[in-house]
Amino acid sequence: MFDEANVLIVGANRGIGLGFVQQLLGDGRFARVFGTYRSLESASELMGLANQFDKLICLPLDITEEVQVAECVGKIRADVSKLHLVVNCVGVLHDGGLQPEKSLRHINSENLLHYFQVNSIGSILLAKHLLPLFKHKERAVFASISAKVGSIGDNQLGGWYGYRASKAALNMFMRTAAIEYARSCPKALVVTLHPGTTDTRLSLPFQGNVKPEKLFSVERTVTQLMGVIEQLTDGDSGQFFSWDGSRLPW
Ligand SMILES: NC(=O)c1ccc[n+]([C@@H]2O[C@H](COP(=O)([O-])OP(=O)(O)OC[C@H]3O[C@@H](n4cnc5c(N)ncnc54)[C@H](OP(=O)(O)O)[C@@H]3O)[C@@H](O)[C@H]2O)c1
Repeated sequence: MFDEANVLIVGANRGIGLGFVQQLLGDGRFARVFGTYRSLESASELMGLANQFDKLICLPLDITEEVQVAECVGKIRADVSKLHLVVNCVGVLHDGGLQPEKSLRHINSENLLHYFQVNSIGSILLAKHLLPLFKHKERAVFASISAKVGSIGDNQLGGWYGYRASKAALNMFMRTAAIEYARSCPKALVVTLHPGTTDTRLSLPFQGNVKPEKLFSVERTVTQLMGVIEQLTDGDSGQFFSWDGSRLPW
């Protein structure tokens, strides 16, 4: 799987996305690696890699703007006719004034909309615009990084309304897209993945409650998620997997 493959990592400027780019650049199987960033100021590491590796192409993309999604995919289509792996690593939990809600008192409709725009709608816009690049006869995977806290069945603790609901919506969007992809590009498997708690800016304020052995390095998370991706088989499209390959409840 993935020999001479073309891969797109969305949200590649830091965290898990940057980890995917680093690992895949060192993996001789991948012919082309596309990586997106939102602003140049926070993409210096990614740009540094592009200076070292000709096969890395960096593209600007704010996933909340459909025009930018279309432009980004247009640039990829001008370069290659097919993609074999897409990993959408974009996500927001906290950002400046945005903090996960501890209680109903903190519910704010603008913040909720922002969670949905970034964490849910972005992925389905990608599914819409990327579909032509999956219309080929080779095995392909379109993975979106979700979160276990987006599992409705697993929710015992409460709180984090916007993040939880937006990840649950992401799961539903991608499950639905998997059904349509199965008709129009049946070799492409569409999945959502829980990475496990990973040492990135996103988890930093909450790491105090995490046992050291449960906090993964980015490198470990990427290795584990690539392991899950490479084990996927035909019946797995539309499913929600944890980092160890187990299926998570919706
Ligand atoms: N870390 C964990 O413990 C953990 C656990 C469960 C799930 N996850 C999920 O894993 C994924 C990766 O998270 P991470 O831990 O790597 O976090 P991170 O380091 O904060 O990275 C988040 C990425 O999302 C990008 N992003 C945010 N808003 C965007 C927008 N509007 N358009 C385009 N890109 C945008 C960021 O770009 P900027 O730098 O420009 O903001 C950054 O590249 C997320 O979906 C997250 O929900 C993480």
